[in-house]
Amino acid sequence: MFTISLVGQKGGTGKTTVALGLAVAAARAGLETAIIDLDPQATATNWRDRREVESPAVVSAQASRLKQTLEAARAGGAQLVIIDTAGRNDDSALNAARHSDLVLVPTRANVVEIETLRAVADLLRIAGNPPARVVLNGLHPSATRTADEAREMVQGVFGLECAPVHLCHRQAYADAPVTGQAPQELDEDGKAGQELDRLYQFSIEFVNKVTIEHV
Ligand SMILES: Nc1ncnc2c1ncn2[C@@H]1O[C@H](COP(=O)(O)OP(=O)(O)OP(=O)(O)O)[C@@H](O)[C@H]1O
Ligand SMILES: [Mg+2]
Repeated sequence: MFTISLVGQKGGTGKTTVALGLAVAAARAGLETAIIDLDPQATATNWRDRREVESPAVVSAQASRLKQTLEAARAGGAQLVIIDTAGRNDDSALNAARHSDLVLVPTRANVVEIETLRAVADLLRIAGNPPARVVLNGLHPSATRTADEAREMVQGVFGLECAPVHLCHRQAYADAPVTGQAPQELDEDGKAGQELDRLYQFSIEFVNKVTIEHV
């Protein structure tokens, strides 16, 4: 079972958006997928309540019970677990990072938000440096230079690496959760869904590789 967590030290960066999008991409690719929602706001769990499709499973849990919740997911046959954490400084991000094969850190691509990654870099160190990638989110679709500059800033200043896939600002990301969907379900050929599928491909290949290297 692979575990990917969404972590950040700031609210509204796209953690839940990416968690739901990746989980739906994984379920559509045939993986038994579960989301563990550690955020007391319960955004992912509320999304599940609005949803008409059973998969992915969504479980609301407390950070202090994460180990047991992961064991239950494994016993229940989960192949991929995606952990969504709270934006505020609490135990959920640290606990999730400690149990992850890959930590994804969504961030908006501006200097104010990128500066908050210093706290994430510290958190990752405390968690024992699990593999982590920053995911640039909310870029203008034609802003390739902004993406390159943001990547350099992230890598240069905090020693964090960016995922090769970034997400643009697209209405589908905001519209899909209203009906308990992910963008790729709202519009099969939409660009948001394609970005999420590419991020899923990168993530699953990454955790496969990391796991093989550690065997
Ligand atoms: N790429 C995007 N394009 C358009 N809207 C987006 C995009 N990414 C996120 N959003 C919207 O921004 C808002 C915040 O996103 P999201 O809930 O995923 O952030 P979060 O990091 O989980 O926040 P919190 O810390 O409060 O849990 C949501 O309304 C979401 O629909
Ligand atoms: Mg959230």
